[in-house]
Amino acid sequence: MRAWLCSRNAHKARELERLLPGWEIEPLDSDAYPPETGDTYYANARIKADFGRSAAPGEWILAEDSGLEVAALDGRPGVQSARYAPEGAPAIAKLLGELEGVAERGARYVSELVCLRPDGEEVRGTGTLTGRIAGEPRGTEGFGYDPVFVPEGEDCTVAELGNAWKEKHSHRARAARALLAALGAVVLLAGCGGTDRTSKRVLRAFFAGGPVARKLGTRFPHAPGTLPCTVRDRGKTVQATCATDISLVKPARAVVTLTEAWNHGAKAHTWFFFIRRDGTVQSVIQEGAPAPQS
Ligand code: IMP
Repeated sequence: MRAWLCSRNAHKARELERLLPGWEIEPLDSDAYPPETGDTYYANARIKADFGRSAAPGEWILAEDSGLEVAALDGRPGVQSARYAPEGAPAIAKLLGELEGVAERGARYVSELVCLRPDGEEVRGTGTLTGRIAGEPRGTEGFGYDPVFVPEGEDCTVAELGNAWKEKHSHRARAARALLAALGAVVLLAGCGGTDRTSKRVLRAFFAGGPVARKLGTRFPHAPGTLPCTVRDRGKTVQATCATDISLVKPARAVVTLTEAWNHGAKAHTWFFFIRRDGTVQSVIQEGAPAPQS
């Protein structure tokens, strides 16, 4: 699949191509990007995505906004990370200068990914990486603040841990996994007849996080969708009914339930997908339940 990445940051294009296997990421190079005036990562990512959509209508569009939040600086540089100082040594020197003599060095990276599908539907993925700011820069891989960012549970900086480590654990890796899970959930639901507006709204809110997802998590908002379909069972074609339900039983966890009820023989199985906001997915199949009466 080919997607346009609305960014002039070559590091991001390279990282995202490794994080989204099978995607061909084409950086959208332009001098006409509008200014990033949003006060959230999402708002800035959406500004870039909207620009991409006008430049490449009907294509897959990908936009990302990210930043470093330092607790002792009240969350700065945050959404202003790219504009705090020129990327690399100057930004690191300014940051270490501001933190001179400061013992509390907690920080986190945030990545917000926005994908616009060719039909205009928005899918999101968010990822964070918590850690602390080191006393001096160490390491050569990664980019930006990586030489001074030490992830929680590690002694080395991200620049020392390297690009292979980033591929598994970075804020961008987590956002990419969440985006893939959100896209997968949309496809899963569509395949099972769960394409009503409520289910889309619930999924979108869940993967965006925040207060709407928390509110939805307190109830079971979605009536299941169903779709007759044909499945293969040991070489035989059988008619089945697929059903889906989304339950945000906890704001932190979505449960997409896919049920395939086979209408011949005595067998049925239920396939539960537990989809977390960081994009990790666990699936459990319960087999051999009696087939429901048609
Ligand atoms: P933007 O998302 O292009 O507006 O810029 C994000 C800025 O945040 C970058 O220029 C870096 O300074 C910083 N940043 C974001 N992600 C990373 C990362 O993975 N490593 C180091 N710095 C990062």
